[in-house]
Amino acid sequence: MVERSLIIVKPDALQRNLLGEIIHRFERKGLKIVGLKMVAIDDIKIVEHYSHHADKPFFADLKRFMQSSPVVMFVLEGFEAIDAIRLIVGPTKGRAADAGSIRGDFAMSVQYNIIHASDSAESAKAEIARFFSNNELFAYNKIDVDYIYGADER
Ligand code: RTP
Ligand code: MG
Repeated sequence: MVERSLIIVKPDALQRNLLGEIIHRFERKGLKIVGLKMVAIDDIKIVEHYSHHADKPFFADLKRFMQSSPVVMFVLEGFEAIDAIRLIVGPTKGRAADAGSIRGDFAMSVQYNIIHASDSAESAKAEIARFFSNNELFAYNKIDVDYIYGADER
């Protein structure tokens, strides 16, 4: 089944100039970007997004972290993409994540773990609707790109 997943490149990743590296990994894998923007997440949306952690002792700190700078969000699309993306991202705790995953390669922390990715089809649907309006998401097909490689005089 073709799925979409919400990715958030967290403030620590932007501060460390890892945005290009992260996008590059998903592009090489074959996932398709169908929406992308920079956002300062507001109070309402960050509380909604992390509502499953609202009663945890680290919640205030997590909220402060996620609002400490803008983030970059994008929506990726692909066949069974949600699980494929979670593998590329790695588990929550950076220092326990496999080398080769984004968190395994770039994070030591639990909280400052570089990236968010939707964890199920259900949460992906809710998260994408929370942060993207319909006119910010694009359905498009790959076009014939022979001209890019000089196949004609354009
Ligand atoms: P995410 O939602 O950001 O993709 O991360 P995840 O599924 O791997 O982890 P989740 O349990 O949903 O936690 C969301 C984010 O909260 C921060 N966190 N801090 N201090 C702590 O013990 C703790 N636990 C979680 C992390 O930034 C985590 O990614
Ligand atoms: Mg999560």
